[in-house]
Amino acid sequence: MNFPKRSVTCGELRIENVGLEVVLNGWVATVRDMGGLIFIDLRDRYGITQLVVHPEMQPDLAERVKELKQEYVVWAKGKVRERENPNPKIPTGLIEVHLEDFGIINRSELPPFEISDRVDISEETRLRYRYLDLRRQSVQRRFLIRNKIYQIIHQYFQELDFVEIETSYLTKSTPEGARDFLVPSRIHKGKFYALPQSPQLYKQILMISGFDRYVQIVKCFRDEDLRSDRQPEFTQIDLEMSFVDKDDVIEVTEGLLARLWKEVLGIDIKTPFARLSYDEAIRRFGSDKPDLRYDLEIVTLTDLFKGSNFKIFEDTIAIGGVIAGINAKGCANYSRKQIDEISEIAKKFKGKGIVWIKRQNDQIVSPLAKFIPERILEKVKEFVKLEDGDLLILVSDYKEICYNVLGVIREEIALRNGFLQNVENEFSFVWIVDFPLLEYSEEEKRFVARHHPFTAAMDEDLELINSEPEKVRAKAYDIVVNGNELGGGSIRNYTIEQQKRMFQLLNLSESEVEEKFGFLLEALRYGAPPHGGIAIGLDRLVMLLTGTNNIRDVIAFPKTTSGLSLMDNCPSEVTDEQLKELGIKIEKNE
Ligand code: AMO
Repeated sequence: MNFPKRSVTCGELRIENVGLEVVLNGWVATVRDMGGLIFIDLRDRYGITQLVVHPEMQPDLAERVKELKQEYVVWAKGKVRERENPNPKIPTGLIEVHLEDFGIINRSELPPFEISDRVDISEETRLRYRYLDLRRQSVQRRFLIRNKIYQIIHQYFQELDFVEIETSYLTKSTPEGARDFLVPSRIHKGKFYALPQSPQLYKQILMISGFDRYVQIVKCFRDEDLRSDRQPEFTQIDLEMSFVDKDDVIEVTEGLLARLWKEVLGIDIKTPFARLSYDEAIRRFGSDKPDLRYDLEIVTLTDLFKGSNFKIFEDTIAIGGVIAGINAKGCANYSRKQIDEISEIAKKFKGKGIVWIKRQNDQIVSPLAKFIPERILEKVKEFVKLEDGDLLILVSDYKEICYNVLGVIREEIALRNGFLQNVENEFSFVWIVDFPLLEYSEEEKRFVARHHPFTAAMDEDLELINSEPEKVRAKAYDIVVNGNELGGGSIRNYTIEQQKRMFQLLNLSESEVEEKFGFLLEALRYGAPPHGGIAIGLDRLVMLLTGTNNIRDVIAFPKTTSGLSLMDNCPSEVTDEQLKELGIKIEKNE
């Protein structure tokens, strides 16, 4: 079909353009017949331009305009005029286009919802008609920012001499702790490719090839339970560098984040970022991804309670556990119900509940008062700086449970007390370093790698590797922003001995290692340079930079939390013919 092509977009006309003859192409947002005048808002991704028809002077045109409906695609020709009633809310609000002629390029059915930022639509409907949802300005805005972010990333790494290389999507399974998505091979029946959970081994092998600095904006696939910040298919900014240590990778990452915050948000963030060891993060904030926009620090009080004769505390101390607490400033007025609710949270996270001490009208009030000597309570009060109106929440348990429970309570108090309301535009960046190399898996009854099996142990802990492997720390680091894990990486095992030792710690048999990682061990024999890297979750980055808590807002065609794509209805069944070709039989659940 032939149609007059636009000379301007719907977002670009300004008062200086008055008098200009223009052609616009776009979608009809609204038609308002005010009797004396007809207004049509024409929309494209650049903005909205108001078209106007004068029925008295243009009776034919006014008649034809009646045919226009929402979301029709049209061309419109006319002259730019100054508006009598300017609209200060939009950049084109000082002008309008006096319509002279128009044509319908394509029609639209009545959309299931109005294309507007003002209407609230269920997420299910939005995802079902994602193309219409993506027509909305507030939704598009995030993708325009996402686009800008790609450009900044490419530019940044180009300046630093990184080489962008695409690795395969049909790969051998590399474990990152989630399940693989598998792709059956037709030619080699019974064999499968795995979609990469990350390009980890490929990027390491590229270092062995001598590329020295690699980067890729890459799709990763993980079959895991979904949450508001997780998708089965997501994007990483993945990088790897040779002849580096932790500080080099951290510096490159900080430079990237500083540039992004500056260019996208106009915010100068201070580098270098703070660093916290994993142990310290757990002890002070009860989490390896603490939100540092507010204090509410955890204080360990085990020693102060020694000799308290309070059975629960004494028992905890006897088993080597911990008594710790949070001084919830100004929360002494929490009701019984509120305290019970916090106690329930503790139980939900495997704790036994909480006890509390509060200071009200300069008196210490606590259910502990009848068991624990006053001098101990006084000491605790001094130690945690319990002021009038404060509530000290205490947990006593095994170390891991105690700090984890207090970490959750810390977040809950911040939420209840509105600590996050005034800090929405603040960003707190922190590196968590010195992670444990291993963690014990109750399920598998063996150690598993905390980051991944290719992460190197800290040199100073190597002497513990046989005697107390659980105490060995890793050359691993996570970047955490406002309580979200934005990225993680490590320095890798680059000698074959290091890598084999790690596999032994993980209790992998030689045949298993050969089957799964034989190609890596072989490559490591041919002059592997010391290397390390990081991957930053791009979707999470865009979430932070566009101010949303929902990962589906920043992915064009996301899956629901149950892994469905509502627009194209997948996953879906395939034909018997396809299955036969692949040599696959489906066992139907009765
Ligand atoms: P890791 O597994 O920590 O490291 O992943 C890095 C970052 O990727 C993001 N991410 C996700 N984002 C959305 N949905 C998901 N399901 C999801 N899973 C992870 C997070 C996370 O911090 N190969 C290593 C990196 C390395 O060692 O260099 C890796 O993938 O933001």
